[in-house]
Amino acid sequence: MNIWKKKTLEQMLHSAEKSDLKKNLTAFDLAALGIGAVVGTGIFVSTGVGAHLAGPAVVLSFIVAAIVSGLCALTYAELATMFPVAGSTYSYSYVAFGELIAWIIGWDLMLEYLVSSAAVASGWSGTFIGLLSSAGIILPKAITSTPAAGGIMDLPAILITVLVTWILFVGIKESAKLNNKIVIVKVGVIILFIVLGVFHINLINYKPFAPFGWSGVMAGASIIFFAYIGFDAVSTAAEETINPKRDVPRGLAICLAVVIILYIAVALVITGMVPYKEISENNAVPGALARFGINWGAALVGTGAVIGMISTLIVMLYGQIRVFMVMSRDGLLPKMFSNVHPVHKTPTLCTIITGTIAGLMAGFLPLDEIIKLCNIGTLFAFVLVSIGVIVLRKTMANVVRKFKCPWVPVLPILSALACVYLMSALPLVTWIRFVIWLLIGIVIYFMYGRYHSILQKEDPKKK
Ligand code: ALA
Repeated sequence: MNIWKKKTLEQMLHSAEKSDLKKNLTAFDLAALGIGAVVGTGIFVSTGVGAHLAGPAVVLSFIVAAIVSGLCALTYAELATMFPVAGSTYSYSYVAFGELIAWIIGWDLMLEYLVSSAAVASGWSGTFIGLLSSAGIILPKAITSTPAAGGIMDLPAILITVLVTWILFVGIKESAKLNNKIVIVKVGVIILFIVLGVFHINLINYKPFAPFGWSGVMAGASIIFFAYIGFDAVSTAAEETINPKRDVPRGLAICLAVVIILYIAVALVITGMVPYKEISENNAVPGALARFGINWGAALVGTGAVIGMISTLIVMLYGQIRVFMVMSRDGLLPKMFSNVHPVHKTPTLCTIITGTIAGLMAGFLPLDEIIKLCNIGTLFAFVLVSIGVIVLRKTMANVVRKFKCPWVPVLPILSALACVYLMSALPLVTWIRFVIWLLIGIVIYFMYGRYHSILQKEDPKKK
């Protein structure tokens, strides 16, 4: 048994071809999938948390996080178009680094997709509760707050997760269509916010610009990074696109460009409208409009945010389900996970388990802690993606790359260093949780995965 055993490119593509997933996503679906994933709790809810850490300089936090995400996206797009299969970083690392590292990354990706699903459901609930209370409907605290906030559970967060899990179970095409509509709504309300808010900017609010210096900017960026998570969901869906080599890099580029422009504008407008200490941590964007008596605008933006976050949840849960499925197809998780429903063509058990765990986390754990854990896991995955680009240029030099990351190895090295730099701004307790999570994963691999791995059972002479 060789825990470092690598898949060959042929083995990876072969297992992709056996898949029963429909190939019906278009270029537009992919771009919308990216924006649908990215714009959510991060901008609508966490902007307030970031502003409290960085002051008006939170706009720099948005720029720092955007640069890190942009570097990652460039490296990511090369791998995504080299291996147009489901399973994201996990699949690439099976070829680049071998089975053990692939498993660790797959396990780590749960922090990105599964944990961020919980964070988005939790942020959704906060915005939804804010909307209801502004309409005079006050729900009991016991069913709207996590135990850490003095309640029993966050029931709206659990219910929205159940709803989205059902949508995903019914099938990808339906989900993509719904997602496209939701994307239009949320981009629309962000533009509305910018247009309404820009007339209420008071330059005094920008002073002092960076009350907590560069460390404040970095602390803000380590939270704000969450607002960009999800662009890689585009490549996670590569296996289900009609022409992945053409559409994946295109989808990533459009998605990031749109998002970066919107976020920087929101950060400038909101910190110009409201003194940074007074920006709401639960309802930042609609709350800023309500402060100026623009109640119709606040209600519209709040409603759009609530609808918009649903698409983020769809894509995050979707990404997790697909990673689970591919890991199970490889034998590293029980085989029954990858059984595809005969009618809906979606992996039944994966979908149900993913929805259940995400719902429970959203219902019972505090949002800011979930976000930090999600960020550290995602940044770690991107470190390995960046290294993977460099390694594969040497070990698989002849494989066609439809999109080539520029300035290799300089750009991937910068990308990896940028991720580590952002990770270093996260608190020690987040690091400890992260390491414990990885150790649990390694134990599971040695107790289950390596004995059931399909790759370990394959006879290399037949290849
Ligand atoms: N980027 C996504 C959000 O902000 C995860 O909700």
